[in-house]
Amino acid sequence: MRGTLRWGVQHGMPRLAVRRGARAGDLQSLLLADPATWREPYAFHERVRAAGPLLTGRFTCMSASHAVVREVLSGADFGVGALHDAPVPALRRPLAWASRERPTHPVEPPSMLAVDPPEHTRYRRLVSKVFTARAVEGLRPRVEELAAELLDELAGRGPVVDVVEGYALRLPLAVVAELLGVPAHRREEVRRFEAGVAGSLEVAAGWREVRAVDAALRGFDAWVGEHLQRLRRDPGDDLLSGLVTVTDDEHGGQRLSERELRATAGLLLAAGFETTVNLLGSATALLLQHPDQLAAARADPDLWPGVVEESLRLEAPVQLTSRRALRDTVVAGQPVRRGTRVVLLLGAAGRDPDVFTDPARFDVRRANAREHLAFSGGRHFCLGAPLARLEGQVGLRALFERFPALQPAAGAQRTTTRVLRGWRRLPVRLG
Ligand code: HEM
Repeated sequence: MRGTLRWGVQHGMPRLAVRRGARAGDLQSLLLADPATWREPYAFHERVRAAGPLLTGRFTCMSASHAVVREVLSGADFGVGALHDAPVPALRRPLAWASRERPTHPVEPPSMLAVDPPEHTRYRRLVSKVFTARAVEGLRPRVEELAAELLDELAGRGPVVDVVEGYALRLPLAVVAELLGVPAHRREEVRRFEAGVAGSLEVAAGWREVRAVDAALRGFDAWVGEHLQRLRRDPGDDLLSGLVTVTDDEHGGQRLSERELRATAGLLLAAGFETTVNLLGSATALLLQHPDQLAAARADPDLWPGVVEESLRLEAPVQLTSRRALRDTVVAGQPVRRGTRVVLLLGAAGRDPDVFTDPARFDVRRANAREHLAFSGGRHFCLGAPLARLEGQVGLRALFERFPALQPAAGAQRTTTRVLRGWRRLPVRLG
């Protein structure tokens, strides 16, 4: 009963509304209702860009402009607001009742991604205490080791392999498992929950999809509860063990609560796994499609960071996010009423011709590629960005050095989700 009501309010009603909107040509509704805009988002993004810096749709506003996306992300007039809020205020109470026994969700409170200050400030400070730049740099030798091990395994499977399943997925999985303090022989346990994660970012989703996501989240919740108990008894030197014990001295020695710990573990899995899989997959495909750029990186290893930034700019693994206006405000000269949600097309911001010359060209020497907004901006700027960059640089260099004659093979398939973009299958000939 609770599940049905929750689905109806969060997904069923928005689904009907966006279908109607899509038939009337509303661009925001098209983005929600038409899978063709997820498979090939860039033509759609150009329609949004052509409509001006801020497009006002039936239900929300939307922007493809780098300047507007950055302004909204960093401005004090906007907050995150729960992704799956009730569409009309009268439904908030029934929704709260229906959500009572829900498992922790990566993009709903208390997840760091879904709270505004002051909760966010306290929460992020605690997590940053253990997720420091030094701790991340300290992971470099381990990431190199993991990449080498996985490439050894990959070599044994040739001559044609799916580089996503065989490598792009396994490297971030191994890294996230290490952050969570999960030993190698139990890595697959973490992977089981992956399916629930990408789906949890969808809105106006179908009943079956939402049930599958809930089941995966419930499974993860139970698993992480037991796992945290193990870490309390026998802490390691991983990030999650660090979080179990970290305290905030400035605030009377506060710690993360059990729920916040579970949410953080879920968020690390949700935010740190498939995103990085998509970065590795998209960068591999781009390099294989542009042999001159690949040759440049092979000849000068200092270009690998450029490969990573340019891939993030051109194929943002997280295509969009959104913010809600906390008060009446003005964006790009247009009034935006309190409560309005603004959809920010991060993937389109990376291709804004006002910032990037010849934006569709893949150029690993592009001087300002790092100005992309693939890691978002403002206070929710990706906490894992240094780790993602490290995994990208180490992982790609290792792959292309190990297999100097790597070639694309037939049968590549893109992902089919709206928010996360990458490759589901990317067959290659190892050579
Ligand atoms: C290429 C890989 C990655 C991409 C493209 C990416 C992208 C993003 C984006 C777009 C956001 C903010 C969303 C918003 O503003 O609404 C975010 C937040 C976050 N990411 Fe990443 N991410 C990546 C890898 C990682 C990794 C490896 C980790 C950690 C293991 C991580 C942890 C986080 C966390 C904890 C947040 C929440 C920060 C906050 O709310 O203050 N991410 N990421």
